[in-house]
Parts: sequence; C-alpha cells; structure tokens
Amino acid sequence: MSEQNNNKLSDEFVKIEQKWKPMPIEKSIQMYSEWSEKYDSDMDVWQYDSPQGTATRFTELNLPKESKILDCGAGTGLLSHFLKPFGYTNIDALDGCEKMLEKAKKKDLYRNYFISFVGPDITLPMEEATYDAIVMCGIFTPGHFPIAYGTFVQLLRVIKKGGILSWGMADPEHYAEVDPSYANKNFENLIKKLVEDKVFEIVDGHPKELPTVQPKKRFFYAVRKL
Ligand SMILES: C[S@@+](CC[C@H](N)C(=O)[O-])C[C@H]1O[C@@H](n2cnc3c(N)ncnc32)[C@H](O)[C@@H]1O
Repeated sequence: MSEQNNNKLSDEFVKIEQKWKPMPIEKSIQMYSEWSEKYDSDMDVWQYDSPQGTATRFTELNLPKESKILDCGAGTGLLSHFLKPFGYTNIDALDGCEKMLEKAKKKDLYRNYFISFVGPDITLPMEEATYDAIVMCGIFTPGHFPIAYGTFVQLLRVIKKGGILSWGMADPEHYAEVDPSYANKNFENLIKKLVEDKVFEIVDGHPKELPTVQPKKRFFYAVRKL
C-alpha cells in the first residue's frame, strides 16, 4: 500500500502508541501532525486492516452508490481508499488534523475537505441533514473522539433523517483500563441510552465483527437516525 514501508514502525508511532490515553483534542491532533508523513507506512507495517474491514461492512448496508457520505476522522484517506472500489464516490472528508488531510488530498478520494475537531460542543462546519451516511474508522479510541452523548448528537445533526451513522472500532472493553470513558461498559451504555431516547435505532444485526488479522476483536456499528 505504501512506498515508504521498510517493515519497521517509525519512532513517532512507537511514541504515540504508548500515549493513547485520554488527552485534550489539541494534543492528539498535534501528535497526528507530527506523525502524518509516516502514518500510511506505519499502518501498513502494523497490519491495520480496520479501514478495509469497515469499508466491507459498510457496503453490506447496501446504500445506493450515489449516497452522499462523510468519512469523519478521515486522516490520510485509508477508509475511502477501500470504499471507492465498491462504487461509492460521493464522499467528503473531515478531520481535525490539516496535515493528515493534506496526505489524503494527494489520493484524490474526496469531493470536499473539512478541517474541524469533533466533540460534544463542536458544531461541524456543514449544514444540517447534508449526508445520507457517515462512516468512520479508528476514531473511537482513547484520546480521539470524546465518548459523550453530545458527540453523537453533533455527528447526527449533519445526517439526514433515516440516514446512517457507522463506524469500525476495537472492542470497547479493550480500552476500559486506560480510559474511564470506556470503563464499566460506558460506551455500550451510551449507545443504549441514545436508543432509549429514540435519537437513533440500531441497524439489524449490528454491531458485526470486523474481519481482522489483529489480535483484538473489532466491531462495525451501524445506527439509523430517527
Ligand atoms: C487513527 S486515525 C484514523 C484515520 C482513518 N480513518 C484511518 O482509519 O486510517 C484518527 C484520525 O482522527 C483524527 N482525530 C482524532 N481525534 C479527533 C477529534 N476529536 N476531532 C477531529 N479529528 C480527530 C486524527 O487527526 C486522525 O487523522
């Protein structure tokens, strides 16, 4: 996938992996800025296959190919790299890190690019009800998108009624020890609360396991905005 892959993880990645824990968004984005040049080659060496798995599961939702999609937390574009061959081409990218998006731009995957943090008090820079679907990968992990009711509300604001919010992530249990927002089944309980409040409904059969060579289980979630 990457020209730079010399089968060795960069020092930046080793440093960042040890630091994946709760932190201010600005600090996390700074780490991505420093890492952006080597992100793709590191992910190649690390056998990060969540983007591919997430793209595969997303296509199983059978949304029309012309659906307007936001790849949120798009980074260098790894997820849409795998989505495009399935015929989804009407995709925008949003990320808090300009340097990661600069790498994505070179791949010609997206129609529009938005630089914005994502969080419970942050209104995304798009009109309400712009997208048929949001797809995301690698963003619900410590130090990334805040695990908060408001984060989901902000994401859902830009999705049309009946549209899909979907994401691939590691088993939330995996993060319980490093991040209190994942402890005590907080992530799963947050999803349940959003369902109870009729903010969204779970798309039948989800979460589904992601195909992965990585040791920890990964899941694909899909919910429908009500
Ligand atoms: C692990 S990378 C995933 C990128 C891409 N989706 C992939 O799977 O390769 C996480 C991305 O989320 C972005 N990010 C992390 N926290 C963010 C936040 N709170 N708001 C906006 N972007 C954020 C980072 O800049 C980074 O590009």
